[in-house]
Amino acid sequence: MDYYDNDDNENLEVTLLLEAINAKYGYDFRSYARASIKRRIKHRMSVSGIKKITGVIERVIYDRPFFMELLGDFSISTTEMFRDPDFFQALRKTVFPAIQHLPFIKIWVAGCSTGEEVYSLAIILREEKLYDKTMIYATDYSEKSLATAKEGVYGIKPIKKYAANYIHAGGIQSFSDYFTAKTDTAVIDQSLRQNMVFSIHNLAADGVFGEMNLILCRNVLIYFNRELQDKVFGLFTESLEEGGYLCLGSKETIRLSAFSDNYDEVLKDEKIYRRNTTPVSDAKANDKPVVTPEFVTKGGELIRDVKAKMEELDHLLRGLPGKDAV
Ligand SMILES: C[S@@+](CC[C@H](N)C(=O)[O-])C[C@H]1O[C@@H](n2cnc3c(N)ncnc32)[C@H](O)[C@@H]1O
Repeated sequence: MDYYDNDDNENLEVTLLLEAINAKYGYDFRSYARASIKRRIKHRMSVSGIKKITGVIERVIYDRPFFMELLGDFSISTTEMFRDPDFFQALRKTVFPAIQHLPFIKIWVAGCSTGEEVYSLAIILREEKLYDKTMIYATDYSEKSLATAKEGVYGIKPIKKYAANYIHAGGIQSFSDYFTAKTDTAVIDQSLRQNMVFSIHNLAADGVFGEMNLILCRNVLIYFNRELQDKVFGLFTESLEEGGYLCLGSKETIRLSAFSDNYDEVLKDEKIYRRNTTPVSDAKANDKPVVTPEFVTKGGELIRDVKAKMEELDHLLRGLPGKDAV
């Protein structure tokens, strides 16, 4: 390392900042693409009038609201409706027929961002006449994104592209049936919210959701290093019913992970896997998510939130047709 090299010194500061964030808050950005992380740090520095990254480290440690702002900057929320339409087509043609016999269906969308993916899923479930017996549990660690997701109000500009994606994904109605167009916005049909619960959940630190039949976690793990990816795969493996499906993003795979043997490949290109009957080895099962001091202090709050949502989910499912068949 060159003592005078500003780039070297800045990279060291970024490393220390990411370590501090991970140790204190349990958010692991250590393997996120450095150029984009650096750009986001610089943005926060200019907004807050901070001259050096070491100043950001100090603020992050002692000022939680400041950290929350930076967290918002770090959250890469890029998404769209029917993103990778072939994937949604595959859900319709391959996954839904395999789970349609279930008395009710539990789905977890992890890293749901601003909700476009969740509404897309609800639309095809409805078209396949499965939505009435489905509960979608949609989570993200970004409160800001979740607020948009709950509202379901989006800019009008990308709607043309979404409509094309919808057709490509095998849509059988007019896409405009699913939203009300205003001057600059498209408001999602609120009846699609009927069987969804949105909640905060940090994949790097929080626990499992049981008995899921399908988990979507697309374009999230790509930002994690191998170790963190494995922790998250452990979380999913514990959360999935045997025979349940796991769907990843187009650039993601479970094949290089320690949990590879626990899944059969259903569709290679669409990154759809199915949990098989291979038991999870004890060594892997013991590799629990990192629990940080900050997580311990806010743990009670999070667990209360999750429990309340699970109760809400059970309550909703109890009211669904087909429950008698269980
Ligand atoms: C690029 S978006 C993908 C959105 C959507 N799944 C899709 O494919 O269109 C990545 C999302 O992952 C979320 N995310 C990143 N790290 C996370 C973590 N540790 N726990 C939960 N969500 C996380 C971000 O907030 C963001 O909303």
